[in-house]
Amino acid sequence: MGQSKENKGEVVPAHIAIIMDGNGRWARQKRLPRIMGHYAGVKAVEKTVIAALELGVKHISLFAFSTENWKRPKGEIYGLFGLFRYFIRCKIKKLKEENIRLRFSGRIDFLPDNLKDLVKWAEGETKEGDRLDLVVCLNYGGRQEIIDAVNRILEASPKDNDKAKGINEEDFRDYLYLPDLPDPDLIIRTSGEKRLSNFWLWQSSYSELYFTDVLWPDFNEDELRKAIEEYKSRERRYGGI
Ligand code: FPP
Repeated sequence: MGQSKENKGEVVPAHIAIIMDGNGRWARQKRLPRIMGHYAGVKAVEKTVIAALELGVKHISLFAFSTENWKRPKGEIYGLFGLFRYFIRCKIKKLKEENIRLRFSGRIDFLPDNLKDLVKWAEGETKEGDRLDLVVCLNYGGRQEIIDAVNRILEASPKDNDKAKGINEEDFRDYLYLPDLPDPDLIIRTSGEKRLSNFWLWQSSYSELYFTDVLWPDFNEDELRKAIEEYKSRERRYGGI
């Protein structure tokens, strides 16, 4: 679970997770089409990742497309997929130069082939990156992740007597999408909404939550620093005293 029990001090969160919300409202305020809000959201991703790198964050995870986002109009969904492909293609060189590992979490197999193939390719290309682990959650849902884990355990159990007898938390983690990813120390949500919306449900048990009214396209290094300062002032007890 990362760090010291009492976290008041100078400890930068090892894993920051972000619910990037408010792209649509940002576009509406500017009388632009929604997709322009998402495009501005990609620019905010770039700024935030560079800032995280400089601040010494080790893992950053971004909720980019949820299992519930399929309810949006087709044009917006495919516009978003186009932006994810653009991000991967255009940024892969920079990610490699900066030693950033790019990986994805979610039901990737259900994505269109042209995105799925690019996702697999990008993961392979950046697998040696050890300065920052950038996790993009695509077609991700926390409940779905837990259900997928349970189904994989059930599939494995007839072959594995130990699992059939019951499993503990540590064993369960092995069946999550990214078992080696530490739980988020800090979860940030932009745009004033105060919910987790099915993000990292298993992993968020002891995460510190930070909510800001800033819309995602306006998020930047200063906003990230503010969130980290707030995190540093909190005391983490993990159920102890
Ligand atoms: C929520 O804003 C945002 C999304 C559903 C998409 C997030 C995607 C990006 C920021 C694009 C770039 C991501 C990567 C990783 C390259 P909203 O549309 O729900 O905004 P609203 O609530 O104001 O309508």
